[in-house]
Formats: sequence, C-alpha cells, structure tokens
Amino acid sequence: MSTLEAVRAYYDQNTRLFLRFGSSSAVQTIHRALWFDGVVDLPQALNAANDLILTEASAFGEAVRIADLGCGVGATLFYVLAQLPSSRGFGLTLSSVQAQSGGKIARARDLSGQIIEADFQYMPLAAGFDLAYAIESFAHAPEPERFLAESARILRPAGRLILLDDFRGEVAASGKRDDDWLTLYQRGWHASNLLRSDELVSLAAQHGLRLVENRLLSPDLRLRALPDALGRWLVALFKPFWKLHPIVPSMLGSLALQQCLRDQVVQYRWLVFERE
Ligand SMILES: C[S@@+](CC[C@H](N)C(=O)[O-])C[C@H]1O[C@@H](n2cnc3c(N)ncnc32)[C@H](O)[C@@H]1O
Repeated sequence: MSTLEAVRAYYDQNTRLFLRFGSSSAVQTIHRALWFDGVVDLPQALNAANDLILTEASAFGEAVRIADLGCGVGATLFYVLAQLPSSRGFGLTLSSVQAQSGGKIARARDLSGQIIEADFQYMPLAAGFDLAYAIESFAHAPEPERFLAESARILRPAGRLILLDDFRGEVAASGKRDDDWLTLYQRGWHASNLLRSDELVSLAAQHGLRLVENRLLSPDLRLRALPDALGRWLVALFKPFWKLHPIVPSMLGSLALQQCLRDQVVQYRWLVFERE
C-alpha cells in the first residue's frame, strides 16, 4: 500500500471514532485542543485553532477565498464560513468517508463550502485564494515540497498559508528512547514528514512563501505523557493488535507523541507565511 493509500485508509476507518471519542459533537474537528488562558471547556479548546484561523481570514475582509488543505469533515471551514458568509471555501481531504460527511454537514447547515476528495499535493484548485491553511495535515504529506509549490500556486500575491502541526523539535532526539518514541509516533500517525520549522521556512522561501509568524503552541496543549516504563509496557501489550484495526496504531502513536512533546523532540507550532 502506498503512503497516500495508507493515510486514506487510516482516515476512512478511524474518522467515526475520532469524532466520537477525540472531538466534541458540537465541534467535529479532528485536531488537538488548545487550552489558552480563559478557555474553560473542550469545545472551546477545540475551537481555539478555528478562532485563530478566523482571525486570519477576517483580516482579508468579508468575502474571502479560503482553501482548507486536509480538512477532515470540514469543521474548521464551516466554522469560518458561518462567521464570514460572503466568503467561498474549498476543503480537500484524502478520505472519501470525510468528504461524504462534510458534504452532508454543509447541506444540513445550508453553508457554502465544498469538500473535495483530492490530494493536496496536486490540488484541483485554480489560483486566486486569499488564505490556505492545513491543520494537522501537512505532516502527512510525503512530498512537502509539492505541497508548498501547490500552496504557492493557488495563493494570490500577499495571500497567506498557515500550518498548524507537529515539527521536529530543536532538541535533537538523544538516544534510543527518543528515537523509539519518534518512530512509533510517525508510524502510528502516518506522519511521514517531520521537518524542523527552520527547514520548513527555508523550503517555503524557495517557493516564494515568506515567514510572518512562527509560534510554539506545545505549552498550550494538555500533555498526558506517561512514565517511560509504563508507556513501554502499554506498547508491548497493544502492539500485537497493530494490524487488527487502524485505531490501534493511532492510539499507540498518540501515546508516543505525548512522550515526544514532553521531551520537546516534537513541537506543536503555528506558522504563517505570506506569498510574495
Ligand atoms: C488530523 S486530520 C485534520 C482534519 C482537519 N484539519 C481538522 O482540523 O479537523 C488530517 C487530515 O489531513 C487529510 N490529509 C492527509 N494527507 C492528505 C493529502 N495528501 N491530501 C489531502 N488531504 C490529506 C486527511 O484526509 C485528514 O482530513
């Protein structure tokens, strides 16, 4: 199975579980909760990333052309379009299950916004977007350069690209323990590209995308890292079931990610680029 087919199968088979157990029925995002000051409950913490995107989108006025690259069931896009109803938005997802759910949500809420089943490394979108963003999806791109080239192609001059995702930390993995957690996280979550943010900034510059903001958001996550011995014991217990259902790699990947974030081998970051 190719990398992309594996990511597609992962989301086709896990989306219902992610929405049921990893999200809130009111919000329907498949991303992490951000516990900024003043955030009191899970729906607010899940919407924190949506609010950051909304603020960026609003800076373009009321009629904004938006591309959500790796959109899940479109929750962030629909959140933004509900506040900026004169805007137009497209969401791309690899998963047909997500594309169908997203289409149903859009019809039920009478929202503009189209969810398309497509690879964001080869976007079926014409140029002219004000804002493109990828929330926890860029790390899945086996060809990050293609993703950046395509993002630059669809953005208008001074349009913005936002990435909210995991990046390799400035702290290098120090030894086998860190390497093992990193490998398990990348395999379990299909995070095939894990660049350092400075590597991404150089790559983006080659495509005419200039860095505007690079903000570390790991401190705003609620970490649940385990003592390493307990973590290793849980991995040994569940690893035999790896192929039983893709939720097993996802759960073990989540466990490993917590350890990586604790050790700052992985950092959760918000990066904003402007197309020159
Ligand atoms: C963790 S989910 C995040 C979903 C959404 N951004 C959110 O915040 O709710 C990752 C998303 O990336 C999408 N994805 C991964 N690789 C992709 C690719 N090559 N092309 C399009 N979508 C992709 C998946 O289909 C999934 O929708």
